[in-house]
Amino acid sequence: MKPASNQHRAKGSFWRRAWSTLFLLPAWFAPHKCLRVVFHRLRGVEIGHNVEIGYYCIIGHVHPSRIHIADHAVITANSVILEHDNSYYYTHGQDVAVGDVYIGDHAFIGIGAVVMPGVFIGSHAVVGALSFVKSNVPAYSVVAGQPARVVKRFPGSAPPLEGHAVFATRHPRPSTSQVVASGGRE
Ligand SMILES: CC(C)(COP(=O)(O)OP(=O)(O)OC[C@H]1O[C@@H](n2cnc3c(N)ncnc32)[C@H](O)[C@@H]1OP(=O)(O)O)[C@@H](O)C(=O)NCCC(=O)NCCS
Repeated sequence: MKPASNQHRAKGSFWRRAWSTLFLLPAWFAPHKCLRVVFHRLRGVEIGHNVEIGYYCIIGHVHPSRIHIADHAVITANSVILEHDNSYYYTHGQDVAVGDVYIGDHAFIGIGAVVMPGVFIGSHAVVGALSFVKSNVPAYSVVAGQPARVVKRFPGSAPPLEGHAVFATRHPRPSTSQVVASGGRE
């Protein structure tokens, strides 16, 4: 039998999941971006001011509180922001990887992008449509592709990941690195 904590990482606590599920459909399909933000907040996602969230965004399905979205960020439709990866748990009984995701202020997540657990997206960064983001995205950069790579940097931009410190100060949390196995934070 698997350790309870690992199962908890894979599936979350029953009550928290039930609570989150209650608001899932309106969070996905409410007819206004402000309403979708409100419902994702109710699910437990940490969301700053003036954030826009498109239709059918899967954001922290099991542990929504591990997703942190700073002010003025835009998450466009059909994006997926993952806080856990249980693929090897189901196929090989291995531990579940869990990690907080931080999306910096004024960042833009293009339509259909997938952001993996433990990733930090810097402020004013752009993630291209349909990108697969597995590593941190520097502030003011444009990344695209599968896996996403920097395709552009805006001139006069902040040093890479400068926004991280600002974000972490406003939203104090443990380190953003991907957490695996016994190091998992709940
Ligand atoms: C990422 C993006 C902003 C880049 O736009 P741009 O500055 O005009 O960049 P370019 O078109 O000059 O592309 C630069 C390079 O990145 C590649 N690229 C751009 N967008 C890409 C994407 N989504 N996936 C994969 N590669 C991409 C281009 O092929 C090009 O590669 P090359 O230099 O080898 O030819 C844009 O392509 C994009 O995806 N925008 C998001 C649109 C969106 O989702 N809107 C939401 C509507 S609700």
